[in-house]
Amino acid sequence: MERGADLARAVAVLGGGGLVAFPTETVYGLGADASSDAAVARIFAAKGRPRAHPLIVHLADGARLDDWAIEIPEAARRLARAAWPGPLTMILRKGPRVAAVTTGGAQTVGLRVPAHPVAQALLRGFGGGIAAPSANRFGAVSPTTADHVAGDLGDAVDYLLDGGACQVGVESTIVDLSRGRPVLLRPGGLAREEIELITGPLGVPDAEAPAAPGTLASHYAPRAEVVAVAPDEVPAAVAGVRGMRGSAAKIAVLAPATAFAAWPDLRVHAYRLPDDVAGMARALYAALRDLDAAGIDVVIAALPPAVGLGEAVGDRLRRAAGPRRDPS
Ligand code: TXA
Ligand code: MG
Repeated sequence: MERGADLARAVAVLGGGGLVAFPTETVYGLGADASSDAAVARIFAAKGRPRAHPLIVHLADGARLDDWAIEIPEAARRLARAAWPGPLTMILRKGPRVAAVTTGGAQTVGLRVPAHPVAQALLRGFGGGIAAPSANRFGAVSPTTADHVAGDLGDAVDYLLDGGACQVGVESTIVDLSRGRPVLLRPGGLAREEIELITGPLGVPDAEAPAAPGTLASHYAPRAEVVAVAPDEVPAAVAGVRGMRGSAAKIAVLAPATAFAAWPDLRVHAYRLPDDVAGMARALYAALRDLDAAGIDVVIAALPPAVGLGEAVGDRLRRAAGPRRDPS
């Protein structure tokens, strides 16, 4: 795998049907030409991702939205103006430029305009849409640094564009605008409250909502077992895990730094996250990777209140804690 900050090289690789891993403000993406079935097929192979899981198409701006989607509702245009570039993905009815493989056969497409300057430069240099899932192996924790990508995907990537650490740290918020009332499919880097200022209250997915497979019960999962609980339940959870696993188990508590003052006697590996929820989101995935690297068996994670970015952080912790029985 080639790695560096050479934009012209990255653009050439995309143009040749290759795979470029690149930074966005949320997480690193594994990109290919969104109009090429053959190029996009390589993404699924590299990630070990089932073909039916649709990919997000990244665009340089919202100006060419009509090339990529059809029957665009007014709420989507308002959201695009208010939130792009930024950590918002909109599900719309798919337009003719989207390769069939990109959407896993679905008639809808996820579109997003990322805010990261390197992603912006890559999209402008390339000129087309870039289909990109998070640049990790299927089901694993998303990468927020170039080193994470190299460790997960290595030689499966043709060029790794290194843009440092991602600022938001959790994936984009996904809103379905393809079927009437806007529905929140995945909480993420843009808080629900900000979106609802534009759209009014978001609906919850019903039986006919397009499945967003990234919302499988177990996803975003490290190797360690994760237990997600309210902060005041942390001591009881530690005692419970010790009782089940015995004193040899390596237990970590993942919580905001100031929360540890309430637990002077826990005798666990303490992983201190920033106290503000944006900092927590930014640090979360690197923390889960660090804890795996430290050989931790069980991570007891304190859930933040479900407001603002706390909704996304809580969602990812619950999924990391979910049953490990998804296809992989
Ligand atoms: O922040 C992000 O969204 C990152 C960066 C790289 O942009 N991308 C990302 O992609 O998280 P991925 O593939 O790891 O997660 C995208 C989620 C998946 O759960 C996928 O199923 C869902 O979006 N999705 C994509 N297109 C969809 C569609 N047409 N209908 C329903 N869900 C869709
Ligand atoms: Mg992903």
